[in-house]
Amino acid sequence: MKLIRTLAEWNPLWLNHLQNKQQIGLVPTMGALHEGHLDLVRASKRQADLTVVSIFVNPTQFNNPEDFAKYPSTLDADLEKLDREGVDYVFVPEVSEMYPRPTELKFDFGDLERVLEGKFRPGHFNGVGVVVSKLFHIIKPQVAFFGQKDLQQVAIVRRLVSDLSIDLKLEIVPTRREPNGLAMSSRNARLNPEEKEKALILYRSLIHAKSRLEQGDSWNDIQQAVAQVFREEPSAELEYFELVDPETFQVYSEFDKTQKTSICVASYLGDIRLIDNLVIVF
Ligand code: PAJ
Repeated sequence: MKLIRTLAEWNPLWLNHLQNKQQIGLVPTMGALHEGHLDLVRASKRQADLTVVSIFVNPTQFNNPEDFAKYPSTLDADLEKLDREGVDYVFVPEVSEMYPRPTELKFDFGDLERVLEGKFRPGHFNGVGVVVSKLFHIIKPQVAFFGQKDLQQVAIVRRLVSDLSIDLKLEIVPTRREPNGLAMSSRNARLNPEEKEKALILYRSLIHAKSRLEQGDSWNDIQQAVAQVFREEPSAELEYFELVDPETFQVYSEFDKTQKTSICVASYLGDIRLIDNLVIVF
């Protein structure tokens, strides 16, 4: 496995792989890698000839400076994990390599970024749009892998690829969970054991809501019941619990069996913000 830190190092390697007609798979990450990230790596290993994993804690997508400062960093352990998976290249740029000057570039994803994550984390998707565009331009992969865990990010990246006519295939990998159902997340590392147990409230609410939808209950009743459960848990603070179209992120006020639907949730556990979602298939 080769560690790449600059664009200049990657370019001749890329050219060589292009000449050899090798397909490059990219897995963009912010490090603190867990099994969810490794599922993306494994999918790339299966589908592409070569796998590049990027590790870059992108400052422009953090709307909360404290979240950025406290974002876990475990580079040595990450590199070991990736080596064990047989990754070919790890791209670990410095901030100055990615942002030689502070960028003023702005993306507007329209309605897609005015709800849920876009609404509660102003500027977040602009930062994601900028860094993902840069990574696509730098690495020039034929296929890129993203997790369903960040469903709205998937919708944003799809829109980016389509609107900018980027010649790239996107592959979406299902959410990897702990045995008890908690969605794996780098931020879970900041939860103490008690908070980790309490964090199950997100997944349990999604499962509960899904089964009530299956029984024909009204979405409004379900949403209110879930909000009440969160109010009764002092260490949790619910930001949203919404039913959406997983592609447009149009927020539905009622459930319609004939539409593609996902339930998305975001909540604080202490001062850690967690998200999760469930795709509803009937
Ligand atoms: P990060 O949170 O490190 O996640 C990297 C990728 O792993 C994302 O595509 C995310 O959806 C996926 N992922 C995270 N947890 C997962 C889980 N439990 N199961 C499956 N996939 C999971 O998302 C980002 O970084 C950044 O926004 C990035 C795209 C790298 C741009 O900076």
